[in-house]
Order: sequence, then structure tokens, then C-alpha cells
Amino acid sequence: MSGLNLIRRPRRLRASAGVRSLVRETRLSADALVYPLFVVEGHGVRREISSMPGVFQLSVDEAVRETAAASEDGVRAVILFGIPASKDETGSAAADPKAPVQAAIRALRAQCSDVTIITDVCLCEYTSHGHCGVLDGERILNDLTVEHLARVAVSHAEAGAHIVAPSDMMDGRVAALRAALDERGFDEVAIMSYAAKYCSAFYGPFREAVDSTPAFGDRRTHQMDPANTDEALREVEIDLDEGADIIMVKPAMPYLDVIQRVKSTFRQPTAAYQVSGEYAMLKAAARQAWIDEPRAMMESLTAIHRAGADIVITYYAREAARALAKPDRA
Ligand code: PBG
Repeated sequence: MSGLNLIRRPRRLRASAGVRSLVRETRLSADALVYPLFVVEGHGVRREISSMPGVFQLSVDEAVRETAAASEDGVRAVILFGIPASKDETGSAAADPKAPVQAAIRALRAQCSDVTIITDVCLCEYTSHGHCGVLDGERILNDLTVEHLARVAVSHAEAGAHIVAPSDMMDGRVAALRAALDERGFDEVAIMSYAAKYCSAFYGPFREAVDSTPAFGDRRTHQMDPANTDEALREVEIDLDEGADIIMVKPAMPYLDVIQRVKSTFRQPTAAYQVSGEYAMLKAAARQAWIDEPRAMMESLTAIHRAGADIVITYYAREAARALAKPDRA
């Protein structure tokens, strides 16, 4: 007997595109993708964000056009961020029924009725100091901020949002949002909580997009320490107990272990956000021709899905949906 027969040959299942596709374990689908949009005041506005090539600040009419085009590509959900005309100490524009996000929700409901509308609920895009809450000196007042956030979420629900997504990381906000929504008859509006949101350097380009860089200090007193994962499980457990329907890990690629632990521990609908800095890194390297962008895009999104994310929020949503629509012969 030749010793050669004992050799295992896993390469057999990699020999052709057909065999590889038969044994593929993870299949990303456009159904899983959520496309972020930045909505501003005005009409006909389409302003590119310099650190996020291909991503634009859009007025409501342009946001509708972009969403319709994304829907054509196969994207089925958007998440909206707003940039108000003016900011103040308490971020009061966040709950204004006439503000860009609320106007965009109404327009999308009317003109893109097959698209699921998610809204980011936070004050940092609306406060003059760029912090995620109401301040007393340099301290964020947790419980007062939560009251404001509940009003913001209700204003999004009144405009027609399907899902509200609190991204502030204040304590008790999921319970407060749930109670406020239910009280006004919005028991069918779901909550996707940014449950394990890390204090990350990868949000840099987003802060350019919405002009929310904190005027002083940082977000370490509410966003999580990148070194922790047990704490992520505690945060997720709390948010689920408070009534979150979907929980999120953010950023995505540097936190694949967290996504994996959250999904395997709770078996709940889990989202991950491929954030602005992750996108910007891929774009920057691609522009130098240092990486193959379409492949790097699909590899990163597949990895996030493979780790356990049912839902992937990504600035690449349109491009990825288009790529997924083509038969994979490679
Ligand atoms: C708002 C919020 C942020 C992001 C999503 N919601 C920024 C932050 O926490 O500073 C980041 C998204 C991205 O970087 O793409 N709090």
C-alpha cells in the first residue's frame, strides 16, 4: 500500500468554478444590504464627501432619486442621516417634522414604497458642540438626552419610518424609545439598536460628512473600549431586554470576533456596520491601484456576513448589489 493514498485532497473541491460554487458555505445576498444616505436641506443638492468618494450629501429630491436607483440595483433598505440647516446646544432640529430626515422619510414613503426606511437616532449631527447628548458643562446628561432621543424617534415614526436605530450609546434609551413609540401607537415600528458601538477612529470620514466632530473631548465616556468583548455581550443583553428587535455591532471588519460572539450567544437578528473609515480605506487603496476594489469589497462584505451579521450596512450597497446580480463564474 502506497502512503500516498492517505493524502487528503481538499483541493478537489476547489478545482472548478462549478464545484466551488456547490460547496460555498456563505452566500451574501443583496437582501442583507442597507444603504446609508446623508440628507441635507435644499433642492437639487448632490455634494460629494471628499473622504468618501462616491458618497454624497443629498437634498430630499436627490435622496429619492438615489434610493430609486439603489432599489433598481437590488438594494431593499436605506438608513438615513440628517444634516440640519442650523445646529444648537440641545440638537433641537433632530425632532423637527420639517427637518431633512423627516421630509425624506415622507418622500420615500410616497415614491419608493418598496424600500424599508431605517433612521439613525442621535443628537451629534444636530448639536453645535457635536456631542451625542445634552451637556452640563462637559458632561453628557444621560437621562435628559434619552428623553430627547425618544422625541426624535417618535418624529421619525410619525413621518413613516419602519425602523429606528439609536446610535448614541446612552443607557436606557432602547426602553425609553420603545415606551414612547408604543404610547403613540407605533408598536409596529422596530428598533435596531447600535448595541455594541465602539469608540473608533474609523468614524472619521462620517464626521466630515455630517460635521459632527466633537468641539472638545471625544466619545469615550459612552462608546465602548475597543479592547472589550464581554462588555459587548452585556450591552447586547441589556438592549434585547429593553426591547431591541435587531442589535448591531459597529464598526464591522475590526470587530468580526464581536459579531461572531454576539450572533452565536443570542441567535438574534444581528447587523454590522461597515463604517466610513473602512470604506475610505478601501477606496483610497483602490485609487492607488494597490488593491482590486471589486474583489476587496466582496471579500470584506462576505467576511462580515460569514462572521454572523444577517444585515450589513455599507456605503458599497449599490455596487455590491450590482455585483451580486451577475452570475459568479470565477
Ligand atoms: C452617530 C453615528 C456615527 C456613525 C453612525 N451614527 C458617528 C459617531 O458615533 O461618531 C458612524 C458611521 C460611519 O462612520 O460610517 N452617532
